[in-house]
Amino acid sequence: MNAKQLAAEAAVEYVQEGMKVGLGTGSTAYWAIRKLGERVAEGLNITAVATSRASEQQARELGIPLVSFGEIDRLDVTIDGADELDGDLQLIKGGGGALLREKIVAKGSDRMIVIADETKVVRTLGKFPLPVEIVPFAWEWTVADLAKLGCVPELRRDGANLYKSDNGNYIADCRFEIITSAPELALALHSIPGVVEHGLFLGIADMAIVGKNDGSLEVI
Ligand code: 5RP
Repeated sequence: MNAKQLAAEAAVEYVQEGMKVGLGTGSTAYWAIRKLGERVAEGLNITAVATSRASEQQARELGIPLVSFGEIDRLDVTIDGADELDGDLQLIKGGGGALLREKIVAKGSDRMIVIADETKVVRTLGKFPLPVEIVPFAWEWTVADLAKLGCVPELRRDGANLYKSDNGNYIADCRFEIITSAPELALALHSIPGVVEHGLFLGIADMAIVGKNDGSLEVI
């Protein structure tokens, strides 16, 4: 079993009968959804919402019952991956382009469990370029404003085209190398009008389950 699968399957053990579950996005969340599908097939009764079209499709294929946001107020737990996480459970997310939906779902959950392999754990955030979702309107100005925060922003591409999120927005991947104060950066990002949301998840995650290549797990 690889390290991502190990972490994902350990997190799924926290899901209990009757829970409302947020399904993350990415190659680690894939394993969690797969395991949840197995448990549903064995009789576990849960409902779920997905953070991306890809995760929604996977859940449907596995027979995990999905509900709309109008049917529920909150979720019991969300299980999702991360691109970077530090010892204070500050995260960079959005490598898969789903950061806006992921943040809405995680903030609407009583508990967010992060799942990752050990390569994602860092002392200081910033090596992974911070994904920032921006509106297409006047994106050139928004990207210029992002650069003024001290990063090198690059608009994400999808082959010959610009990448579009499930929400129809662009993603600017902002290379900071080191983020000295994530809370200050989060405030500054929100002051830019064209920014829809950024991939800094601060004070949102409750625990992280980290899978290691030697088969062990670490809980942060
Ligand atoms: C998607 C995300 C993912 O959770 C993050 O990119 C980690 O992905 P993976 O599990 O494939 O390494 O934030 O928007």
